[in-house]
Amino acid sequence: MEITEFPERVLKEAGGAVEKFDAELERLVADMFETMYAAEGVGLAAPQVGLSLRLFVMDCEGVKLVAANPEILSAEGEQGGEEGCLSVGKIHAPLKRAARVRLRAQDVRGEWFEREAEGLAARCFLHETDHCDGLLFLDRLSPLRRDMVKKRFQKVKRWR
Ligand code: NI
Repeated sequence: MEITEFPERVLKEAGGAVEKFDAELERLVADMFETMYAAEGVGLAAPQVGLSLRLFVMDCEGVKLVAANPEILSAEGEQGGEEGCLSVGKIHAPLKRAARVRLRAQDVRGEWFEREAEGLAARCFLHETDHCDGLLFLDRLSPLRRDMVKKRFQKVKRWR
């Protein structure tokens, strides 16, 4: 699948709920994993493949899962570190996030589950759930840093 990039409109839209847990969803999830691994990413949300849906896949520090209709149940503590996004040319910027995050979501068969994570996987829960809400990590940066990342991304795009 093709990865949609900033500033495409679909990345700014809150996704619709996943309602059908069928073979079509299984195929979509398999394609999203394949696309994520090909791009060497650790998480990928449906809006990043042009679909305005509340759905993401991730495989990050031993946490591999499909999350449909994700919700953040709790977010505690604080971690520093860098964050990037496949839709923004993997340009990284420092962004503080919660250190421990509890996620609730449905798996590919529609079963609800809860999962807690720390560190990078916790950051991934937050980043991918943001995508489902139409938010990019850019939206959480200071205006100065946001402009820096946008400018670097525009340059990268021009070189390709
Ligand atoms: Ni992203």
